[in-house]
Amino acid sequence: MAKVKPLAITHVGIAVADLEKAIIDYSALFDFDKIERMEVGGEGVKAAMLSIGTSELELLCPTKENGAIAKFIRERGEGIHHVAIRVPDVVDAMEKAKEIGMRVLDEKPRSGARSAKAAFVHPKSFHGVLLEFYDR
Ligand code: CO
Repeated sequence: MAKVKPLAITHVGIAVADLEKAIIDYSALFDFDKIERMEVGGEGVKAAMLSIGTSELELLCPTKENGAIAKFIRERGEGIHHVAIRVPDVVDAMEKAKEIGMRVLDEKPRSGARSAKAAFVHPKSFHGVLLEFYDR
């Protein structure tokens, strides 16, 4: 099996309880070139992407109490939620991960921010880190 080529760390996802407060706190020190806010509709999350060179911080804030980010903050507090790695082909990466016994959390790629394709792999497969395959 040809392995999957990791192309870049596109972003690091950070769970925050208050999005505007988090943007203010991160911006107190850093002069970000771009801050882009977005709703991640079906998932009960609003987000802000803070540009750092060619990668980003993705601040994730729950908009409803039963979503994944709300649950994460309740159980573990604010902090790093996932690391996103750009791969050439999300579906191919998912198939190869499954082939070697990893627990891929998505049946098929979900639409990530900015119409990117995305899929998550269980933290058990990566020593405690929730990994996101991302195609842009
Ligand atoms: Co992400």
